[in-house]
Amino acid sequence: MIIDLKGRDFISTDEFTREEIEAILQLAEEMKADRYSDKWAKLLHNKTFLMFFFNPSLRTRVSFEAAATELGGHAQFLEPKTMRLKKTSEGVEVQAGETIEDAASALDRYASGMGIRILEGAVENYGDGDKLLREYAKNMKAPVINMADDVYHPCQGVSDLMGMRQHKGDLNGKTLLMSWGHGALARSYCSVQENMLLSSRMGLNVKLAHPKGYDLPKDIVDQVKANCEKNGQSFELINDPDAGYTDEVDFVYSRNWFGPDFYEIGKKAEIERASKLTDWICNEERMKRTNDGLFIHPMPVDRGKEVTDEVASGPRSIIYDIAENRLHTQKSVMAMTIAGLKVSIDPRLF
Ligand code: CP
Repeated sequence: MIIDLKGRDFISTDEFTREEIEAILQLAEEMKADRYSDKWAKLLHNKTFLMFFFNPSLRTRVSFEAAATELGGHAQFLEPKTMRLKKTSEGVEVQAGETIEDAASALDRYASGMGIRILEGAVENYGDGDKLLREYAKNMKAPVINMADDVYHPCQGVSDLMGMRQHKGDLNGKTLLMSWGHGALARSYCSVQENMLLSSRMGLNVKLAHPKGYDLPKDIVDQVKANCEKNGQSFELINDPDAGYTDEVDFVYSRNWFGPDFYEIGKKAEIERASKLTDWICNEERMKRTNDGLFIHPMPVDRGKEVTDEVASGPRSIIYDIAENRLHTQKSVMAMTIAGLKVSIDPRLF
């Protein structure tokens, strides 16, 4: 089966079939195994990839820039202050005196692809960041790649999967524990949502553990449950910091996220509340109860709060492999969507 993603936007993995995700992963694995091959070195020759950041980043910015370089292209960094952006009362960002339609249409004449990061710190309401990203995508022919918005983080999701199968092989029937972690960072939902959406579609059982009051958006959780049901996998919701660590768990993802009222109460109140729930931490004693479970996290890690140092830096942590995978998966996505590289996959896998 030949997979062709030329011209497609990459905003959420939910908009891609399992076969298409498999093709992205297979190409990323090939690119990782043969990183500097001539096969990839000119795929973006003479092409510019725009990286538009409303919020800060370490991994995403550097890995996208490196990806463009390794594919023979150039990545250009953009941020709101250099583009004279301002907020409207609806929380939608527009350029002073210029609509998104105009800005996007002009950028489309220069670049072959554009990545956008827009998280909760840059918008008024949950979902506004994703809407803005889709507005750019609607007005550009060049593919738009989500570099993390307030709902989804597709490049992180496929990088997680790549790391998980790199270490445990076939993911069918494996079990993921997605656990809330305490801390003072009031983190976004995007990475955990993307991981659960993708894991549940790719054959994993999902255990979701969080304190009462830290429910994730219902539509996403319903989708994860439906994915599990469709594939005959289990889904379990646990409101206890300890009970999820059982002998069937293969992967533990311990990460802070803010409560559903975050957009009303703000960061200070959220941090005050979340910092008190200190029992929500991934530690060695809990990890020992799992099925040689591996610790995964998108980083940056809030050490001593989401997870102990012993686990984060221990032999069962694969966080740096996953961080490295961002480079390979993004090269794969850029090669397929921007350069139009086609990938052949074995249909018997599905
Ligand atoms: N995981 C991730 O997106 O990291 P950065 O915020 O550093 O880009």
